[in-house]
Amino acid sequence: MPTPLPVAHLNGSVVPAAELRVSVFDRGFLFADGVYEAIAVYEGRAFRLAEHLSRLARSLREMRIRDPHDPQGWRALIEALVASNGGGSMTVYLQVTRGAELARDHAFPSGAAPTVFGCCFAWPGPPEALVRNGVAVVTQPDERWGRCDIKSTNLTANVLARQMAVDAGASEAILVRDDHALECSSSSLMIVEGTTVITPPDGPQILAGTTRNLLRELAPGAELSWSAEPIPVARLRAADEIWIASTTREVLAVTRLDGAVVGNGRPGPMWQRMHAALRAHVTRFVAGVTGSAAAIIQYPVVLPLKIIGQAAPGLRERVLALVAAHATIETESVRERQSGGARYLSLTVNAKIESREALEALYAALRASDDVVWAL
Ligand code: PDD
Repeated sequence: MPTPLPVAHLNGSVVPAAELRVSVFDRGFLFADGVYEAIAVYEGRAFRLAEHLSRLARSLREMRIRDPHDPQGWRALIEALVASNGGGSMTVYLQVTRGAELARDHAFPSGAAPTVFGCCFAWPGPPEALVRNGVAVVTQPDERWGRCDIKSTNLTANVLARQMAVDAGASEAILVRDDHALECSSSSLMIVEGTTVITPPDGPQILAGTTRNLLRELAPGAELSWSAEPIPVARLRAADEIWIASTTREVLAVTRLDGAVVGNGRPGPMWQRMHAALRAHVTRFVAGVTGSAAAIIQYPVVLPLKIIGQAAPGLRERVLALVAAHATIETESVRERQSGGARYLSLTVNAKIESREALEALYAALRASDDVVWAL
């Protein structure tokens, strides 16, 4: 059970988590009248922060709760919270309610200011055994309200569905409405057919998951296609693979559905690809390659690089020589394949990089090379 880290935030003040107090007249307590976000922090850096902040702003707008901070203000609040809890890997939980007034009336109070609460939980990443072996899930009727696109703190139906899953010895509940699988009690749902990942279209019945959206961005690099389509239960049961994704689970393979084995009972090959792409993305994020903030990373580091060049004689040798000028190549990790018909050659390689300067010099050299079309 995750316990909060010592330092929390309440209404503009930094407060010891154990001493946080809000009024019982807070509308979050009386009506679950609030919204929240859960954000992953890797090595001191908040992941997909812009996406979480824009979803938070949207949830507040849809709930007609005044947004107490602009994005700059939210960033400062989160950075302070993470730093005062010592950095490292954790999750940040943010909650905003409509506030407290000494009354109980369903209609909005006239004078209340939103209550802003933030705290952090230690988080070493999803449990290794679940990543390696996959998870069991069960289907449950979706008994939630009609605006599941809002990240509301009103989670009664989600809580009940998750507990039913736990009681059945499973990790998650897939929620089913009108014979369609939508998402899970606290994660997004994807199925795989061949090399296509399918997820239900966005709309009021599901939350637009930030992790799922990242997987969509990573799909082409993992040579997977992506499609938003309804998933009737029969299609779910016939899928080659089933995945669930969230901030705290990253992406996990479902290996049992309602007690029946999915595929061969092990995380499938497309999941392996996508999981590798996600881990590589996180590694680059931590190294500061895909983000703008200063990197906090322990060098030397082994980074998986993916480089795409125009297919031409000697391309592989030239690109590897360029990488070798700034890093040590793990020779056995070099892989090449054609893409875009035979027009492009895609090279993946694990490279050991000694310093931030070396990493920046490597990317500058890749960008400057006439051979290289794209590098990550
Ligand atoms: N839950 N769908 C639901 C209903 C969720 O509650 C969540 C996240 C997701 C995935 O969203 P994201 O990838 O942005 O985390 C989908 C969080 C982790 C929670 O409730 O704690």
